[in-house]
Parts: sequence; structure tokens; C-alpha cells
Amino acid sequence: MIFTTELEHILNQIDLDAPIPEKEPERQYYFIKKARKLVEKETQRLGRKPTCCVNTFGCQMNARDSEKLSGILEETGYELIEAEDADFVIYNTCTVRDNANQRVYGRLGFLNSMKKKNPHKKIALCGCMMQEPSVIEKIKKSYRFVDLIFGTHNIYKFPELLCSMFENDRMVIDIWQDTNAIVEDLPVERKYPFKSGINIMFGCNNFCSYCIVPYVRGRERSREPKDIIREIEMLVADGVVEIMLLGQNVNSYGKNLENPVSFAQLLQEIEKIEGLERIRFMTSHPKDLSDELIEVMQHSKKICRHLHLPLQSGSTRILKEMNRRYTKEQYLALAEKIKREIPDISLTTDIIVGFPGETPEDVDDTIDVIQKVKFDNAFTFIYSKRTGTPAAAMENQVPEAVVKEGFDRVLKTVQDTAREQVSRLNGQTLLALVEEVNEQDASLLTGRLSNNTIVHFPGEPSLIGKIVNVNLKENHGFYYIGEMI
Ligand code: 5AD
Ligand code: SF4
Repeated sequence: MIFTTELEHILNQIDLDAPIPEKEPERQYYFIKKARKLVEKETQRLGRKPTCCVNTFGCQMNARDSEKLSGILEETGYELIEAEDADFVIYNTCTVRDNANQRVYGRLGFLNSMKKKNPHKKIALCGCMMQEPSVIEKIKKSYRFVDLIFGTHNIYKFPELLCSMFENDRMVIDIWQDTNAIVEDLPVERKYPFKSGINIMFGCNNFCSYCIVPYVRGRERSREPKDIIREIEMLVADGVVEIMLLGQNVNSYGKNLENPVSFAQLLQEIEKIEGLERIRFMTSHPKDLSDELIEVMQHSKKICRHLHLPLQSGSTRILKEMNRRYTKEQYLALAEKIKREIPDISLTTDIIVGFPGETPEDVDDTIDVIQKVKFDNAFTFIYSKRTGTPAAAMENQVPEAVVKEGFDRVLKTVQDTAREQVSRLNGQTLLALVEEVNEQDASLLTGRLSNNTIVHFPGEPSLIGKIVNVNLKENHGFYYIGEMI
């Protein structure tokens, strides 16, 4: 990332009549300056700043990408708003399950009706869904009104793409199959002043047989530790107290660097950053979670007491078909070890129900693991067939009614065990980072405990961004009502 003052200094020295730089990020600085002129024209035409709405689907990785898009838009002169009647609407899409795709198609129809009333309205699509050739074909055929399409690998080129969009009447499409490039030092506009996601790696090499992510996010690439540390230091200087290190599989961080570094070593370096209060990370793959990491977490004052450890299935047979590379027993042993070494930890997980060939007995195994591990929360998904993945070609797809039955049983177990598990905190006083005013009741604040549990309590909005002591009074399943002490 880069701060506005430094960027301004760089932009002042750029001559738009000189040849366009080849190197990144200099090339994008050039296009930010150029885009400013194009946006300025819009400002004159409208008699006000043009507005832009970035709508994010999917995971934390996409949320961070949207902050990067927003940073660039802000620097080029757009006013960021949340309403889709904006002059420019961007959908940052997800394709991990088919219902995410269907939502995008549905909303595109709605955007088209808005564009008919405002022909100057611009529409861009980016993110994981755009990496699928069949999606691009469909949009080219049935959604001709879209102005710009780009993917996950060239998001840093957004300033350049923005200029192409203004200079072309036809749909601009730029999708890359993969990339080795990691471009640093572009502007970012954070959603929260006091907390931030930060990419430590991109892509995934695991190829779980149901998952489309390796195909749309490419091969695993880690950022250099010094770049990560520098970015966190800048964030802390800018008021951030909590960071979330992002990667599809953070436990394999650093393996492909010129000078390999383990994730646990990276955490130890980050821990030293003064002013940083809390460190989170996501996501951990059970097969790569090291004893070294457990030890570092155990001794850390800043690493939060939360581990998201996707189980996916409790059946060893299904896990093998999923290419997860651990057994039910190995997962149970790992969870037990983590809980033994870090007694105040909360474990959360992801579960898929209805993977091809899954029987009610396999679901029983999943339920058995949930009951034994006692997750604080579990995200339960119905298996979604993703074209191009090995599981999509498997013949024994499970009938919908059987999936539904298994899903309901898993959900009920998750709810029951989570309620019991979360209730162990009853009466305790713990530190919470105050995140926002409660959406339903403005007299309450919403805070997050180190172990990721949410607590609502009476308090003043001036406390937002502060870490305060809260006594946990009433357990409401996944969250608490509390009182500040
Ligand atoms: N169907 C259902 N859920 C899926 N996930 C990934 N791919 C699929 C799929 N094809 C879930 C996994 C993963 C989470 C991010 O999404 O549980 O951990
Ligand atoms: Fe998908 Fe598996 Fe990679 Fe996670 S680890 S992104 S589930 S392939």
C-alpha cells in the first residue's frame, strides 16, 4: 500500500506526454494520473463528483481486493457510496459455490434496468467468477451492457483498465490465466480505520477435489516477509490495532520464497511490531498445521485465541475422495493437541455436506467429529458442483433430498454444540475490540473477543476502535450480551 501524500508526490512528477512506463507499479501511477483527467471530465459533465459503488461477494480475500479497488477509485476522483444507483458499479465476484454466481446474474438484470435510465452508468465485473471461460462467454452473449471485465490476477492493473474503459465504447475484457507478479505500493481504502486484512500469499496448490479456487486464483505465491512487515507498520502508523493475515492456506506460507520462511517465523516477526495489539489469520489447512505454530501461538501475547480449521468432512473415506490428505483420527488428534496446548482457544470450521458418494454413515462421522471437537462455530455448506473440478466428474452425485437430510442433521449438531461451547465463557470478563454501533439497537456497541466471539454491550460510539474489558452476561448461542467493566 501507499499513503496519499506519498502518491501525490509521485504523481506530481509524472509527465503524461512521456512514454508510458513498462515497470510496475510506476505504470499504474501513470494511469492513475491519466484516469484523474478522465474522471475530471465526468465531474464537469455531471456538475458533481461521479459516484462509485464496489459490491463484494465472497471471502475476506475479496473484501481486501475491494479495498484496493476503492483506494484507486478514490485517488482518481470518484466518490465512494454504497448504493447501486452510483455512476459506476463494480461487482467483485465469488464462484466458490454456484449460488454466488446465480446472485450475480440476478443482480446484473437489475443493473441493466438502471443503465437504461442512465446510459452513462458504467458497470464492471471482476473477481473469481471472471476467471471461468464459460462465465465470460455467457456475459459476452447475454449481458452486453457490461463495460469492463477483469480477473483475479490483474487487479493491480485497475488504473490502466479504468482508462481503457473510458476510452472504449465496447466491452473491455482482460483476463489472465495466471501470474507470478505481486505488485506492491498501490493505494488502499480501508473499510475500518482500526483493523485491516493483509494478504500474505495468493493462490492455492492443494486442489481439494470439490474446490474451484486453485483454478481461479492460480498457484501459491507468498509475499516477502519484509513487504508484509512494512505494510503492517504502515497500517499501525495509520491507526490499525488488529490485523488479519490472509491466504488460502497460511500454514504453507513462505515455502516458495527464495529464502524460505515458515508461517510461525513470520508470526514471530509480526509480533514484534510495536503498537499492533492483535493478530489473526485465515485459513489454516489441517494437513500443514505445525507444532511450531502451536508453540508460537501458545507463547504469543498478540495472536488471537482463534483458529479456523476447515474439517470439510469427518469421514476418512470422503476426506480421501476430497483429496484433503488427513484422516478423521488425524483431525481429532490435531484438534485435541491444540486445545490441550492452548486451553482458551476457540476452534471454528467449514463443513461440506453432500459430496459425491457421501452416505448417511459418512454424515454420522462428521457429526461425531463435531461432537468430539466442540467447535465454537461451523459454517456448513451444501456441496456445489463446480465445472472443471475432479468432483464434478464423479458419477455418484447425492440426491437433493438425501443431502438436505444430512445437512439438517449437521446444522442441528453444530448449533447445539456451539451453544454449549460458547457458554463456557459465561460470567468471564474479557477484552473486546469495539467494532461498531449495533445494527439493531443504537444504544449497544458490538465488540469482538480475542477468540472471535461477538459481544454486544451498552456504550458510546467514541469507543469504536478501542479495546475494552467486557463482562459476558448472557449467552445467545453464537454471541453474548455483556457489560463494560
Ligand atoms: N461446494 C460447497 N462448499 C465448498 N467450499 C469450497 N468449495 C465448495 C463446493 N464446491 C467451502 C469449503 C471451504 C469454504 C471456503 O467453502 O468448506 O472451506
Ligand atoms: Fe479450496 Fe482446498 Fe485450496 Fe481451500 S485448501 S482453497 S478448499 S483447494
